[in-house]
Amino acid sequence: MAYKRILLKLSGESLMGKKQFGIDNERLGLYADEIKEIVEQGVQLAIVIGGGNIFRGIQAEEGGIDRVQGDYMGMLATVINSMALQAALEARGVITRLQSAIKMEQICEPYIRRKAVRHLEKNRVVIFGAGTGNPYFTTDTASVLRAIEMEVEVVLKGTRVDGIYTADPEKDKSATKYESISFTQAYEKNLNVMDMTAFTLCNENNLPIVVFNMDKPGNLKRVISGEKIGTLVHS
Ligand code: GTP
Repeated sequence: MAYKRILLKLSGESLMGKKQFGIDNERLGLYADEIKEIVEQGVQLAIVIGGGNIFRGIQAEEGGIDRVQGDYMGMLATVINSMALQAALEARGVITRLQSAIKMEQICEPYIRRKAVRHLEKNRVVIFGAGTGNPYFTTDTASVLRAIEMEVEVVLKGTRVDGIYTADPEKDKSATKYESISFTQAYEKNLNVMDMTAFTLCNENNLPIVVFNMDKPGNLKRVISGEKIGTLVHS
């Protein structure tokens, strides 16, 4: 195993599978299977999941909901996804703890860094819900923040593409994939890896990111075992 402790960032949209909205149970199950496999190998795993399959703060603005309200609604959406993932993992016998950045003590623990670290040390999967608990921050930023707090070795950003390309591979057939790229290069080339806040936090704290295709079965395990798939972004 290449890593002992990691943070996996999943997008809310990818939970939709072929659906237009919400959670596709089949996709959820596939993710849970993949996660179970790596947890059984002994890796300490924290997870942050987005909420875009249920609600997107920025789009709500167009409908007259102000940005801050919309962002809070988005944070609640991430808690719904986190609960779904928790249930799917527990159904497979994986021990999990869900901590939310916004207190909802009836359904999950509040975010407490020291407690989260202890859970990881006991090989419990810790899912972090409600982003950072603040508007104007993305779940990418939340995942990087939690990753730094948990002192993980790498953020694995699970996406629907194989990595970071020189151009959009769907529009430009000559686009090629980077095996690795530095934060500075990625910034200079204007490659959209994560939003700037997340990106800067990673760079300043020497936290590498691997962008990889989470929808290909076995990929998560391959990344953990050190296979060079996806794109490594480093300081
Ligand atoms: P240890 O301290 O290692 O024993 O961890 P633990 O998580 O097993 O202990 P704890 O007694 O804190 O938690 C037992 C169960 O209650 C776990 O499923 C927790 O997720 C849950 N739990 C703990 N605090 C809260 C809370 O504030 N709200 C909710 N809803 N559940 C909580």
